[in-house]
Amino acid sequence: MNLEEFKQKLSNIFSTFKKDKEVLSVDELKIKYLGRKSEFVSMLRLIGTLPISERKEAGKIANEFKNKIEKLLEKLESENNQPKNYNLDVTLPGKKVPVGHMHITTQTIREVADIFKKLGFYQVRYPEVEWDYYAFTALNFPEDHPARDEWETFFIDSKPINSKYGARILTPHTSSGQVREMEKRKPPIRMINISRVYRRQMSVRHLMNFYQFEGLVIDKNINIGHLKGILDFFVKKFIGPDTKYRIRPYHFPFTEPSFEVDVWLGKENKMAKDGWLEIGGAGMVHPNVLRAGGIDPNEYSGYAFGWGIERNKLSIGGINLEDIRILYQTDIRFLEQF
Ligand code: DAH
Repeated sequence: MNLEEFKQKLSNIFSTFKKDKEVLSVDELKIKYLGRKSEFVSMLRLIGTLPISERKEAGKIANEFKNKIEKLLEKLESENNQPKNYNLDVTLPGKKVPVGHMHITTQTIREVADIFKKLGFYQVRYPEVEWDYYAFTALNFPEDHPARDEWETFFIDSKPINSKYGARILTPHTSSGQVREMEKRKPPIRMINISRVYRRQMSVRHLMNFYQFEGLVIDKNINIGHLKGILDFFVKKFIGPDTKYRIRPYHFPFTEPSFEVDVWLGKENKMAKDGWLEIGGAGMVHPNVLRAGGIDPNEYSGYAFGWGIERNKLSIGGINLEDIRILYQTDIRFLEQF
């Protein structure tokens, strides 16, 4: 062999390399072209058989060849190039991309809003950071009345900072939207206020931060019959047409008379007490509350109701949760079931 033949041979190897790089993987190319048993390595051994004057030049050419191959391999590797006709099986099923869905709370909010919109209610949302005035004073809670404690309120200000509105709080119930709505709109009022509320309570049945929806209807000649009709319609739509429920006398400062509504879920239900789930409060709007909203109680009357979203939804339909707090622990294994 002479230098010319040596050169020619390397250039032939390079031509086959160019074809192979379309079909072989980078690892296969490395072994075939630079590996211990490659043609290139056996050619390096041949350099010693060339005439002495040609050996230096042959070494240089061999080095250039090696560098060229290495550069191309690096490039292929960085492009993570699979050879173009590499095991492509068009009959394999595609990869399924997991698709999420709305949180069960959001779904329930929409479900509730839809039921009431069918009855002619419009939806509003009032502030979560609220004045004491709208949450308590305007709702006929006497100053320092123990009822204020029942709502277990988070206070933002430690003392009243406004002579009319008092301290700022995180609203403990959506009832704070009642007088806000009356200040904004003249009767007839038919609002449904769905919002987050906050309470200093945490247990298997209580979240510190949950949703309520508040209904308020004010017009001429509104009576308890209207309230009962709405409750009946809602319970049967939301829970089921055969739902057994009861309306029980209770006390709230802002309604007179006041009621609580219980539905029968059976003794095995963990969220219910002795089989009855208390779904929320309701009543005829107290004249003092109408007055606080600038509405004449001799001319108008109204009813209101305020119920929770999460506990009510999770108690029905056989879900039977042990601990309601799992709802907001972002555990996908739980959430994907709804
Ligand atoms: N705000 C009350 C609560 O959070 C529920 C309630 C009771 C709302 C009676 C009302 C009502 O509108 O009339 O426990």
